Amino acid sequence: MMELKINRLTKQYKDKLAVDNVSLKLTPGIWGLLGANGAGKTTMMRMVAGILKPTSGGVFYDGLSIDDLGESYRDIFGYLPQTFGFYPEFTVKSYLEYMSALKGIGKKDASLTIERLLQMLALSDVKNKKIRRLSGGMQRRVGIAQALLNDPEILILDEPTSGLDPGERVRFRNILAEFAKERIVLISTHIVSDVENIATRNAVMKDGRIIAAGSTDALVDVMKGRVWRTEVSESDLFKCERLVRIANIRSESGGRASLRYLAENPVLPGSAPETPRLEDLYLWLFPEDSGTEEVR
Ligand SMILES: Nc1ncnc2c1ncn2[C@@H]1O[C@H](COP(=O)(O)OP(=O)(O)O)[C@@H](O)[C@H]1O
Ligand SMILES: [Mg+2]
Repeated sequence: MMELKINRLTKQYKDKLAVDNVSLKLTPGIWGLLGANGAGKTTMMRMVAGILKPTSGGVFYDGLSIDDLGESYRDIFGYLPQTFGFYPEFTVKSYLEYMSALKGIGKKDASLTIERLLQMLALSDVKNKKIRRLSGGMQRRVGIAQALLNDPEILILDEPTSGLDPGERVRFRNILAEFAKERIVLISTHIVSDVENIATRNAVMKDGRIIAAGSTDALVDVMKGRVWRTEVSESDLFKCERLVRIANIRSESGGRASLRYLAENPVLPGSAPETPRLEDLYLWLFPEDSGTEEVR
């Protein structure tokens, strides 16, 4: 069974402990790496990709250190960085050809693979356009194509859904679902709903540490009995915000509001239990990230 073992991985920048003794075993499937901005996701991914040297700890692929694997690790590895140093003057196709050459893929294989990826990512129509002329979402898709060129066994995508429109998100999800069989895919995001329906397992990162990990179902289970819905008068909203953590407010007619909220008990009158979602867990763990007032 293929396994990527992250073992006590630590990165200390000058005065910042960006990744703090993280251990995680990744098995085939799609993993979400969730966490607010600054949690340490990018730093961890760059170490897993072998392009950033850890302060301590290591990454092991089927028991072998990726330092020892060297080039042969790069052969089975695909990586989409969060900020993507494009070659803006390249056309989509020439860029992918160039990247194939860098990855040591033969010309004939490359040309077939590129055609297939262009089609899969709906980029065929723009393949002769310069990258700088593409929309943000299209550029992301070129980045994803680049990461898939060598048909990697391990795929690391750092915030791949940023800049994608809803249609592109659905397409992306379908591509990954097809691709992820028998492979390890790790996707970071600070927007939970982006991976909620993609990832079957998740790791939640906060202040450089993994604070929760497991199947999406098991993680969502943590929120059972903590998610409620009730209706209140809009004039009472402010009061409610101080009592509970609000996940969602929907205006109803007659000055009423339907409130979805998180609390250990149904503290507001008329509350009925709601089915928890991964987003609820995230809000529970990262109240400061929610856009609503934090309960103090
Ligand atoms: N090269 C660096 N030098 C110093 N601090 C850094 C560097 N890169 C990242 N950091 C800090 O490490 C923390 C984690 O950053 P990052 O891994 O980018 O988080 P995320 O991807 O979850 O937003 C942040 O506080 C960030 O400011
Ligand atoms: Mg990041």
